[in-house]
Amino acid sequence: MMTVDFGWPFRLFLLPSAIIFSAVLCAHSLYKNRYVDLWQPNSVSLIGWNATVDVHMKRRDTQRLHAALKQERIKYSVFISNLQQEIEKQTRLRSSRKRRSESQYDYEIYHSLEEIQRWMFEMNTTHSDLLNMFSIGKSYEGRPLYVLQLGKRSRAQKKAVWIDCGVHAREWIGPAFCQWFVKEALNLYRYDTAMRRLLNQLNFYIMPVFNVDGYHFSWTTDRFWRKTRSKNGKFHCRGVDANRNWKVKWCEEGASSHPCDDTYCGPNPKSEPEVRAVVKFLRKHKKRVKAYISVHAYAQMLLYPYSYKYAAIPNFNCVESAAHNAVKALYSAYGVKYRYGPASTTLYVSSGSSIDWAYRNGIPYAFAFELRDTGYFGFLLPETLINPTCNETMRAVKAIALGLLKKCHTDTDAFPYI
Ligand SMILES: *[C@@H]1O[C@H](CO)[C@@H](O)[C@H](O)[C@H]1NC(C)=O
Ligand SMILES: *[C@@H]1O[C@H](CO)[C@@H](O)[C@H](O)[C@H]1NC(C)=O
Ligand SMILES: *[C@@H]1O[C@H](CO)[C@@H](O)[C@H](O)[C@H]1NC(C)=O
Ligand SMILES: [Zn+2]
Repeated sequence: MMTVDFGWPFRLFLLPSAIIFSAVLCAHSLYKNRYVDLWQPNSVSLIGWNATVDVHMKRRDTQRLHAALKQERIKYSVFISNLQQEIEKQTRLRSSRKRRSESQYDYEIYHSLEEIQRWMFEMNTTHSDLLNMFSIGKSYEGRPLYVLQLGKRSRAQKKAVWIDCGVHAREWIGPAFCQWFVKEALNLYRYDTAMRRLLNQLNFYIMPVFNVDGYHFSWTTDRFWRKTRSKNGKFHCRGVDANRNWKVKWCEEGASSHPCDDTYCGPNPKSEPEVRAVVKFLRKHKKRVKAYISVHAYAQMLLYPYSYKYAAIPNFNCVESAAHNAVKALYSAYGVKYRYGPASTTLYVSSGSSIDWAYRNGIPYAFAFELRDTGYFGFLLPETLINPTCNETMRAVKAIALGLLKKCHTDTDAFPYI
């Protein structure tokens, strides 16, 4: 049905702990000339002493790195030696994966944007009692930005939880999780008392693919595309990092002002129509939205504000205990360990992030998940791991949502100013 020609045989290297400073410089020159695509961390400025670095590059450029690493005596391993083959595993056989109805939708494979949208329409028709689909705006390339409202209809004002997936195009496990969440929630509603309580007392707003243009592009052209697809006046490079484009300490530390960088903050705050649409929606519902959850990959972490500075948030004890419970619930499924804490200290400093924006705008619980894994498969998490990854994440999100039904005492006077 769809031919996907990526055209580049890629390799992935991991440089484990004994990295020395010259490696950073070495990576610098390669990076500056755009011979490498950094997977983790996503900017050269974040490579420190003893850091673990995941990079991806064209096969023809590996010789140079080989030589440089050997000279510097830096240890490394090749995790994926034929990236092309791994990519094709996740995109081929689309047409043979037929399905006749929503009940046969395969949640354990990655789906293209068209498939996900078709699925949303179907869910909207077959589950109109608990689910309602609507659009909050249009993307740069004119695609509708769909959101699913999930919860029992009620005349009373219900608290709400926002969940977005696919802010970064190449993190395919995100949209897979959002779909899983909807399916599981509807399923569990029938017999799981906790889920019944959640859907009766809360509304979930779920945006399965935030960066629709980028996600589409990652399917058709560049599997490792991260940003949006907007054009920049003078530069040939396209796209803005949709998690550096929010109006909170915009374009300061941990964001790049260069349009060719993966962490480009954009020409202005909220320059991206996708960010603007979500801002508008959350502002409109700010009184009700008590939790903002953004689903990313990969690192196995649960992060909360601040991203932009090393400081504790005013309601730290409530948020910290929610994160602790979420990570514990996640661990209970398969023993997978997640680190958790403020994004700045747990991952790295970044400015203009969505969780900082949500928090500043009065949403007391703002989280970013970095799902599996820690670098073995990276963005190419195999489809066989969709089920366990979503299962454990579901437990964590449930724990956060159940926490909202209880009171947590915090110093509200100091909230939400930062
Ligand atoms: C790097 O790691 C090694 C071994 O774990 C340790 O001995 C060394 O002190 C570390 N260096 C720095 C600068 O953190
Ligand atoms: C979802 O279904 C409702 C009717 O239940 C309909 O009014 C609405 O337009 C549908 N949403 C979309 C995006 O088609
Ligand atoms: C997770 O997996 C366990 C064990 O296979 C199963 O019992 C449970 O129903 C699953 N839960 C979810 C939310 O998928
Ligand atoms: Zn991400």
